[in-house]
Amino acid sequence: MYKIPFLDLPPLRAASGTVRLPGSKSISNRVLLLAGLAEGTTAVHDLLDSDDTAVMLEALTQLGCQIRKDGSVLQVTGLGGRLLPRAARLFLGNAGTAMRPLTAALALLAATQGGEFELSGVPRMHERPIGDLVDALRGFGCHIDCLANEGFPPLRLSGPSPLALDKPVQVRGDVSSQFLTALLMALPLVAAKDVVVEVVGELISKPYIHITLELLKRFGIEVRREGWERFTIPAGSRYRSPGSIHVEGDASSASYFVALGAIASVNVPLRIEGVGSESMQGDVRFVEAARAMGAQIESGPNWLAVRRGDWPLKGLTLDCNHIPDAAMTLAVMALYADSPTTLTNIASWRVKETDRIAAMAAELRKLGAQVDEGPDWIRIAPLHDWKPAVIHTYDDHRVAMCFSLAAFNGLVAERPVPVRILEPHCVAKTFPDYFETLFAVVDTSRSEIPVIAIDGPTASGKGTLADVVAESLGYHVLDSGALYRATGLAATRAGIDLDDGPKVATVAAGLALSFGKGRTLLAGEDISDELRQEATGVMASRVAVHPAVRRALNQLQLDFRRPPGLVADGRDMGTDVFPDASLKVFLTASAATRAERRHKQLIAKGISANIESLRQDLESRDARDKTRAAAPLHPAQDALMLDNSAQTIEESRDLVLDWWAKRRPF
Ligand code: C5P
Repeated sequence: MYKIPFLDLPPLRAASGTVRLPGSKSISNRVLLLAGLAEGTTAVHDLLDSDDTAVMLEALTQLGCQIRKDGSVLQVTGLGGRLLPRAARLFLGNAGTAMRPLTAALALLAATQGGEFELSGVPRMHERPIGDLVDALRGFGCHIDCLANEGFPPLRLSGPSPLALDKPVQVRGDVSSQFLTALLMALPLVAAKDVVVEVVGELISKPYIHITLELLKRFGIEVRREGWERFTIPAGSRYRSPGSIHVEGDASSASYFVALGAIASVNVPLRIEGVGSESMQGDVRFVEAARAMGAQIESGPNWLAVRRGDWPLKGLTLDCNHIPDAAMTLAVMALYADSPTTLTNIASWRVKETDRIAAMAAELRKLGAQVDEGPDWIRIAPLHDWKPAVIHTYDDHRVAMCFSLAAFNGLVAERPVPVRILEPHCVAKTFPDYFETLFAVVDTSRSEIPVIAIDGPTASGKGTLADVVAESLGYHVLDSGALYRATGLAATRAGIDLDDGPKVATVAAGLALSFGKGRTLLAGEDISDELRQEATGVMASRVAVHPAVRRALNQLQLDFRRPPGLVADGRDMGTDVFPDASLKVFLTASAATRAERRHKQLIAKGISANIESLRQDLESRDARDKTRAAAPLHPAQDALMLDNSAQTIEESRDLVLDWWAKRRPF
C-alpha cells in the first residue's frame, strides 16, 4: 500500500453516527501468545489486524504454531509448551507487547528444553528498556545476552540451564507493567511447584495486569494475587485452550471517539461499539475522566454513547496512572477547556513508542498551546489562537490519533486552521482504518474541505493525474466524466434519444452508481470497462450538452467533497462545480500526443484502434465540449496551465503537488 507522507485534516465541526472499534491490541497479543503456548486449537474472534499483531503472528509461526484464517476467525494451534524449532531469529518491530512476553516465554523454554533465540526490533525498540525483565529472568538461571547495550534489545536467549524457582522471583513494577505481565504469562510453562513473583516498587499500569490475569484465567491459569505486590502461580498450572475467545474492542482507541463526542456531538450522541461497562480493559475508565471534563456518556455492556455536555470542556488535574495510554487524549481535549489541565503520574509515557511527554509537549506547542512538563507530569493551557501546525508523529500511533482532535479548532478559534499529521500510517500499529473511521462520522462545512480541480480536454491525462495527486494526499477522487459516461450509457440502454435533454436528465437524476476498488457499478453491475470505451465517451459528450443533465449531476458531484479533501477532474470542475477550489489546474497536451496515449491505452486493453481516427474523434469531441452553450470547456480564470505533452506522469504530479504546497498555510 502507498504510504502518504502527510495527511492534512481540514477544520472539522461535528460528529455523529456509529463507530465500530477494532480489537484491543493488549488483548489481541496476549490471546495470541497464550493460544500459541497452549495445548489445542483456539478460535480467536475479532482479533485486531495491525502491525503489532502481525509481528506476533509471524513470530508464533516461526516458532511452529499452526495459524489458519477461517473467514474472520483465526484458528491458532499452540505448542502445548513444547519447543519445536530450537532456534529462531524473531523480528518484533516496535511491539512491546510481543518483545516482553516472548522474551520471558522463550528464555524459560530455552532453559528447560535447550535452544537459542534472537529477538530484535526497529531502532526505537532497541532504545526501550527491558533490563528489569532480563534481570528477573537471569535471577532464575535463564541465560540472556544483550547483544548491543546492556538492558536493551536485541537479545539472545539460550539454554539449557538449570532454573531455580524456589525463592520468590522479584521484578520491578515501576518502569513498565509489561515485565510483570511477561513473567505471569511465561511462568506457568515451568510451574512444577508454586512460583511466586514479587513486585518491587509501586506497580504502575495495574489495569494491564488485570487484563493479563483475566486472560490467564480463560486459559486455565488461576494466579493468586495478594494486593499488587505478590502473585503466585500454582503448582501444576497448565495452559488449556478455551476453544474459542472473543477479543474486546480497544478501549484506548475508544478514547479518541469519546473525546470526539465530547467535543463535537452536539445534539445526537456518537455511538461507540466494542467496549462498554463490562470491559476488562482499564482504559474504559477514560470515560470517567471525559465525564469530569464535561462529556455526557451513557453505556451498555459493550457500547458507549457520547455527547457534548459542558462547553468549553472543564480543565482538571488528574492522576493518570490508571489510564496511561488514553490519557494522551486528555492532553488534546485540554486545548478545548476553560482552564489548564494537569496530568500527573505519567512517568511511563517516557518509555513508550516514543518519549510521549516530550512529544506531546512539543507538538501541542506547535499548535500554539502553552505547555509545562516535568519528569512525570504535563500541564496544558486552553488554546484560543490556533496555528496551522505540522504534527510530527514519532512513529507513535497514539500521537497521530489524538492530534486528529485538534482539527476541531474551528469550534473555539476565530479563524479555523487545518492540521497536518506527518506519517499518518503509523496508526496501523493499533487502528489501521483510524482516519477512514474518523472521516465517516465527522462533518464540516463544505467550503472548508479543500478541492483540487483538474480540467482539460479529452485524453489529456486528467484522470491519471487526478488519481496520483489524490493518492499522494490521501484525498478522494471525483472522475466527473464517469458520471456523464454512465448517464449516456444508462440512457442508451433505456432506449432514450440522447438529444432529448429532459428525458436524459431524469436518467441522470436516478443513476444508481456506486464506486469501490477502482470499479464503477451501475445498479450493481460492473460497468467499468464499458465506461472507458470510446463510444461511451461520445455518448457522454452528447448528453453533457444539456443544461438539465448538468444540473441533475451537480449535487452528486458536490457530494464527493468530503474530508479530508477532493481531487476532481473533468471539464468544468474549476469553472462551474467547484468555483471555490483551492487549486485549479488546466491540463493540456497536443492532439497528436493525446491520440497516441489513447491508442496505447486501448491497445493495452486488447481493443484495436486507429490513431488517425482516434485523433479525429478527440478533436470533434473537444469541439463539441468547447462550443456547447452549457458549461463549455475553457480554463477557469485562476487556473494554472499545464501542458504535459513532454512530461511523465510523475513530473506532472510533482509540479501539481508543488503548486499545492504553496497554497497551504504550513
Ligand atoms: O473526461 P471524459 O472523457 O470521461 O468525459 C466524457 C465526456 O463527458 C466529455 O467529453 C464531456 O463532454 C463530458 N464531461 C463534461 N463535464 C465534465 C466531465 C465530462 O461535460 N466535468
